[in-house]
Amino acid sequence: MEIDHPAPVPGAELTPREVVRALDKYIIGQQAAKRAVAVALRNRWRRQQVAPDLRDEISPKNIILIGPTGVGKTEIARRLARLARAPFLKVEATKFTEVGYVGKDAESMVRDLVEISIQLVREELQASVKEGAREAAEERVLKALFPDPANPDADKERANRTREKLAKMLRSGHLDDRVIEIDVRKSAAELPGIQFLGASGGEQGGTNLQDLLGNLLPDRKSKRKVTVKEAMELLLDEEAGNLIDQEKLVAEAIRRAEQDGVVFIDEIDKIASGHGQSGRGPEVSREGVQRDILPIVEGTTTRTRHGQVKTDHMLFVAAGAFHVSSVSDLIPELQGRFPIRVELGALTEEDLRRILVEPENSLTRQYAALMATEGVELDFRPDGIDRLAAVATEANGRSENIGARRLHTVLEALLEELSFDADARRGTTHVVDAAEVDRRLGPVMADEDLSRYIL
Ligand SMILES: Nc1ncnc2c1ncn2[C@@H]1O[C@H](COP(=O)(O)OP(=O)(O)OP(=O)(O)O)[C@@H](O)[C@H]1O
Ligand SMILES: [Mg+2]
Repeated sequence: MEIDHPAPVPGAELTPREVVRALDKYIIGQQAAKRAVAVALRNRWRRQQVAPDLRDEISPKNIILIGPTGVGKTEIARRLARLARAPFLKVEATKFTEVGYVGKDAESMVRDLVEISIQLVREELQASVKEGAREAAEERVLKALFPDPANPDADKERANRTREKLAKMLRSGHLDDRVIEIDVRKSAAELPGIQFLGASGGEQGGTNLQDLLGNLLPDRKSKRKVTVKEAMELLLDEEAGNLIDQEKLVAEAIRRAEQDGVVFIDEIDKIASGHGQSGRGPEVSREGVQRDILPIVEGTTTRTRHGQVKTDHMLFVAAGAFHVSSVSDLIPELQGRFPIRVELGALTEEDLRRILVEPENSLTRQYAALMATEGVELDFRPDGIDRLAAVATEANGRSENIGARRLHTVLEALLEELSFDADARRGTTHVVDAAEVDRRLGPVMADEDLSRYIL
């Protein structure tokens, strides 16, 4: 497998304007935040064009997204990473504990990002060796199905023709249910005893132990009786693995993590030493976590099981509501590492209306697609959409404002009955207009306690 010329990261070449346009397909409003992340992405590409000595001096401009819950902070970061096809890790700052305490250490960010990067690169490579792997796997399945005749020279041409016919049958699925015996590779980590050890060893210990044993014990082949269909799946994986150069995969994955990686640190406000929080203990440990995160954001070299990984050029996007604390409650060094601050506003009723219909993955499209599988057409009318946005806005006002997340509960409540018996309504159309919304949700909205509970 050749990856000497790492493919240029496609998304990185998008101009800020193009990035914002692409994000517009999924996220309504929040233009300031979209612009900020678009610039951050472009700056990486710009940096790659700069002469090497200066290039290494340019560090990414990390961003803090500030805004209430459910207004698109995580969604923007996630879409950005997908757009850039960059390794993307989302962590919650509250999951970290200071070094020396039980819990996740801050450096796990780097290890996890590398794992994600490996997964990403592996998928790309697997796609590129798919054809070769398929041929090799087919060959092995055919061998298992029809072992070579005792005297292969008897009639070579005829044997070849037969083989071709069989390959055709195999591809068309005619042989899927036949049972054959194949040799599959079993990695050490799959051996039962070792898995048990791994499982009991805690998150980190487990992985390391498995690695250790995996390196010590050679892969073993084991004979298994499986259907042709299962055999193809198993062997495809194995053959793809054979075609991929693991060392190059890891090198490329580390390069991508270092150069293109995006780490999204959610709930950063919860580790700020805010006002109104009592007790010295948690205060101190929150600051400790900030101090542990700091070097990673500043740029350090972390040891992972795949080798050393530099964090200097990873992009960090932090997010938080900052209700009780403010950015200035973070330790100054950390504040300095997040020079770009963007506020995301609460969503208006009009925003919610647009969120219901405009994004490519909008909830109304999702529900319509789900119902279509049952042969039911779900027809959202404009007046129904308006009413749903109004209900969501009112519910957000009554209890906690959870932003667009409210739309999920509102739609669930609206479509509960249909979801339950859609199978019995095959061939019908279910219209959601204002009257239907009132019929279903009116009684709930009339009862404050009920609406608080259901919506
Ligand atoms: N502006 C928006 N446009 C489209 N969809 C949105 C928008 N804001 C939120 N959503 C949708 O609402 C859900 C929650 O959004 P998201 O996870 O981004 O919230 P958040 O701002 O990160 O909140 P939290 O602070 O609770 O983490 C997602 O399904 C997302 O698609
Ligand atoms: Mg979030």
